[in-house]
Amino acid sequence: MIDNAADPYGSAALSCRRLRRPSRGYGVRMAIRRALPDPAAELAAMVGLAERVWTPRTRWHLGDLTWSRLQFASPVAYPAAAWWEDGEVVAWGRVPAPGHMEMQVDPARPDMAGVVLDWVESLPGHAGEPLTATILDTETHIADELARRGYGPVEESRFFIHLIHDLVGLSSRKLPAGYRLRHVVDEADAEGRARAHVAAFGAPSAPLRVTSDSYRNVMTSPFYRRSLDWLVEYDGDVVAFCLGWWSRSTRSLCLEPVGCHPEHRRRGLASAAINAVLETAVTMGATIARVCARGDDRYPSARSLYRDVGFVPVGRNRSWKRSG
Ligand SMILES: CC(C)(COP(=O)(O)OP(=O)(O)OC[C@H]1O[C@@H](n2cnc3c(N)ncnc32)[C@H](O)[C@@H]1OP(=O)(O)O)[C@@H](O)C(=O)NCCC(=O)NCCS
Repeated sequence: MIDNAADPYGSAALSCRRLRRPSRGYGVRMAIRRALPDPAAELAAMVGLAERVWTPRTRWHLGDLTWSRLQFASPVAYPAAAWWEDGEVVAWGRVPAPGHMEMQVDPARPDMAGVVLDWVESLPGHAGEPLTATILDTETHIADELARRGYGPVEESRFFIHLIHDLVGLSSRKLPAGYRLRHVVDEADAEGRARAHVAAFGAPSAPLRVTSDSYRNVMTSPFYRRSLDWLVEYDGDVVAFCLGWWSRSTRSLCLEPVGCHPEHRRRGLASAAINAVLETAVTMGATIARVCARGDDRYPSARSLYRDVGFVPVGRNRSWKRSG
C-alpha cells in the first residue's frame, strides 16, 4: 500500500496538488497534461516513457505499443493523454474501449498514478461507472493506487503473461521440405503478411481488421525493420511469421506478432521464424527479448511455443475493476 510518510504529496491530495512537487531550485515543478489526438502523437509520448523506464519486467515496450496502435485499418480514436515534466513524459493513460483503461507511470513518480486515474475517472461517461485497468503484476506503484481507490483484482479465466529470453543458446530448427524462410523484402510482402495474420488469429465470428493497407502502415513506423520481419512461405503463400521490434537504446527486442496458419501448425514453422528474428537481433546488439502471450490453461499453444524456444515467464497482466 502507499506509504504516506514516504509520499511528500500525501496520497489523498487532490489531483492538482499531486501535479506539483518540490523543484531542485525555487518554486514548484508541474506535470503538464497534453491530449494525444492521433496515433503519431500517442506513440511519440508513450514510446518516450516506455524507453526511459524500460526493464525486462516493465509492461510496455515500443514494439507492443506500436503494433497495438497501428495494426488495424482505420485506427479508432479514443481518449489518450500524457503528462510531461521537464521535457520528459512521466505518465500516460488511454481508454481504448469504453470502461477499460491502460496506463504507464514512471515508478520514480508513483504519485502520477492517481493523476492519471483522476483524469480517466473524470472523462464523460466514466464517473461512477464500472472501470477496469490492466497492469503487469510488477507495477505495484499503480496497484497500490488502484487498491486505495477501491479497485480489486479480477478473477480472470483468460490472461496474458510476459516471458523473456536472454538470447543465449539459440538453436535453429530445420524446416520441412517445401517451406522457405526469409525476411520481408518490400511493401509487396504486406498483402501476404496480412493474409497470414488473419488466418492465424482470426475467427469467422470475429474477423480481424488487419489488411495489406494497415500492414503497410505498420511498415512506415520508424521502429519497423524488414530485417526483423520474418516469414515462412509455402507454394508462394505466407504461412507463418514473426515480427521483432528492436530498441537500440535498451538493446531489447519485443516479438509482436507471431503466428502460423492453422493448416501448417506443429511443423516448427513459428519456431523457425522466431529463431531467425532472435538471431538477427543478436547481430544488432540485442541482449534480451520479451514477448507477451496467453498464460491461462485454456490457451496453451503460444505459452508452450515460447517456452520451447527458450523464453521464461517473468510476470502476469492482471485486470483491476471498480464496480461503479
Ligand atoms: C502458437 C502458434 C504460433 C504456434 O505455431 P506453430 O508453427 O504450430 O509452432 P511450432 O510448430 O513451431 O511449435 C513448436 C513447439 O511449440 C509447442 N506448441 C506449439 N503449438 C502447441 C499446441 N497447440 N499445444 C501445445 N504445445 C504447442 C510445442 O512444444 C511445439 O513443439 P512440438 O510440435 O515438437 O511438440 C500457432 O498455434 C498460432 O498461430 N496460434 C494462433 C496465434 C497465436 O496465438 N500466436 C501467438 C501470439 S503470442
